[in-house]
Amino acid sequence: MLKGRTVIVGVCGGIAAYKAAELVRLFRRAAAEVHVIMTASATEFIAPLTFQTLTGNPVHVELFNLIQEREIGHISLADRADLFVVAPATANLIGKVANGIADDLLTTTIMATRAPVLLAPAMNVNMYENPIYQSNQQCLLDHGYQVMEPVVGELACGWEGAGKLPDPADIFDEAVRLLAPKDMRGLRVLVTAGPTREEIDPVRYISNHSSGKMGYAIARAAAWRGADVTLVSGPTCLPAPRGVRRIDVVSAEQMHREVLALADRADLVFKAAAVADYRPVSRAQAKLKKGRDCLERIDLEANPDILADLGKNKGRMVLVGFAAETDDLEKNAAAKLAAKGADLIVANDVSRGDIGFDADQNEVRLFFADGRNECLEKMDKAELADRLLDCAVDLFRAGGDAGTSQ
Ligand code: PMT
Repeated sequence: MLKGRTVIVGVCGGIAAYKAAELVRLFRRAAAEVHVIMTASATEFIAPLTFQTLTGNPVHVELFNLIQEREIGHISLADRADLFVVAPATANLIGKVANGIADDLLTTTIMATRAPVLLAPAMNVNMYENPIYQSNQQCLLDHGYQVMEPVVGELACGWEGAGKLPDPADIFDEAVRLLAPKDMRGLRVLVTAGPTREEIDPVRYISNHSSGKMGYAIARAAAWRGADVTLVSGPTCLPAPRGVRRIDVVSAEQMHREVLALADRADLVFKAAAVADYRPVSRAQAKLKKGRDCLERIDLEANPDILADLGKNKGRMVLVGFAAETDDLEKNAAAKLAAKGADLIVANDVSRGDIGFDADQNEVRLFFADGRNECLEKMDKAELADRLLDCAVDLFRAGGDAGTSQ
């Protein structure tokens, strides 16, 4: 989404200015071209050299800098921006822009740009709640600027309340959402992610290595693209992506119940969760003690197959299953496609450490119900998520066209 796009990051003078460095790093990791504009007071909190090193570009502070103006004038900076993010945005900056005051490089460039502008305010809670600040913020919202809610918590000034800068990862998410094409608006997407846990006793369970990264990436990308997204998640350490409705489950039976209840309202279903095929026949009420109870054998019974149950009666829904394989990937994935009634199986080799379970990247082979198959090169799960969404949207639209022409 951000590859090759130009992002201007504005940094105001506040204690949270140091967090802008992490935000810039996230934009750079996403292959964006980043330029940083700092207010003079921001340079009191963090050195321009930090941003220059992270972006590889000179940092802009002064409005009338003859050398920078010749090489890259402030209007040219405003023009070349695909996105403008200000983090942290102070009450002063928001007040100035709301009142048309452009008296430094940052305010001038914000007012001159036609790119979407996202402001992430951070300040003392009393300043934030001050009606003058609130009316300035409302004025910006009325004029189409995007303003994030500050986080509630302990503030650097000692007060408790709303005023903390949102996490850089959340600002990044919001920024990407602004740039994403809204080509999935109106589509309802159901995603499963993470492992399931099948309890043996109150302290032990059977599970697997799924981190949830693959499914969360799909849910996040679909929400960015405007879809209405529900994520049914097994236990993971990941925060719910912004704009996604998350339902937490633990066992395969719980996941089965939730997914089947939601499926008839879904247009696209992605089954990225690593569901345990078996569970203990009975769960001990108390912790099994070493030496007393016999743990040499745990009797297991089969869990319901959620994907196969969805495939039995799927109507117009596009059903995307995954296949986690360690050997005979092609044969096993093709067998799963046939057995589970899916439209597409995404097969990955989970014996490799660099892809599959808990990795940031994946390399998959796609098996379509119409017999086509395609190998995708290794890529970030975020990028793969978009590729899988493209495939599912195409299948859904083709299904609709087929339906209308009959
Ligand atoms: O979460 P990450 O760390 O990012 O790792 C991603 C992943 C490796 C978990 C993911 O890419 C993946 O392969 N997910 C499917 C894991 C799996 O359970 O594969 P399977 O081959 O055992 O199952 C095939 C399909 O049937 C899967 O879509 C699975 O969700 C589904 N299934 C399996 C068993 C069951 N009882 N019910 C199911 O719905």
